[in-house]
Amino acid sequence: MVQGPPGLGDQASMSYTPLEYWTRKSETYRAGHLKDEDANFIEMVKTHLPESPRILDVGSGLGLTYEVTKEAGIDVTNFKMCDFIKHFIDRCEEAIGVRPDYWDGKTLPYEDDSFDMAVSWSVMLHIVEEEEVEAFIKEHMRVAQYLFIATWKEEGARQHVGVHCFQHDYEGIFERLGLEVVEARPANWRGSKEKGRFRRINYLVRKKGSEDTSEE
Ligand SMILES: C[S@@+](CC[C@H](N)C(=O)[O-])C[C@H]1O[C@@H](n2cnc3c(N)ncnc32)[C@H](O)[C@@H]1O
Repeated sequence: MVQGPPGLGDQASMSYTPLEYWTRKSETYRAGHLKDEDANFIEMVKTHLPESPRILDVGSGLGLTYEVTKEAGIDVTNFKMCDFIKHFIDRCEEAIGVRPDYWDGKTLPYEDDSFDMAVSWSVMLHIVEEEEVEAFIKEHMRVAQYLFIATWKEEGARQHVGVHCFQHDYEGIFERLGLEVVEARPANWRGSKEKGRFRRINYLVRKKGSEDTSEE
């Protein structure tokens, strides 16, 4: 459990325990993506992955990434999801008719290299410790060739965004794990009070030296 930092106003006195927080949040959560990020994601999938990609979405929430993928005309036959909150699993099934696995992304129940891409969309920014993020990324890269991460870019985001948001040195982690950044695209966070102050980033990484899986 961590305490909110100074500068967070009312939230400074709040504590954050991920499982507890997301259990509570799952009651009222409304999914939302930035248009920029949807576009980044789709372009990355179309550029780097095979036509019927095997995708794993970890922390799938209400299945928005599945929907975005489907709407873009990408075959979702091999699209798998998991989330560590039971209520999100139920709500996702109600919303999109597909039931994610009930699982914590820390240790995934899937075979090595069973996906072309793992997706972590607004999930790692909610992990408190950087070592845990590193272990998370390592586990995602065990099961997939590529990893897409949508997260906060700038230092200090935690002070302004919420008690549940944390900044991490992703590029340092990639370096330590021997991953190469295939693409890194920024996205603006328009919902912030300080418009333009905070930017998000979308990373596509893969194991160093691995080949592009696109059939084009
Ligand atoms: C901000 S929501 C994002 C949902 C979805 N990825 C999207 O883009 O709409 C964060 C989601 O990550 C899930 N989550 C957080 N930590 C997780 C973990 N360790 N394992 C699996 N899911 C996790 C939460 O339950 C929640 O559904």
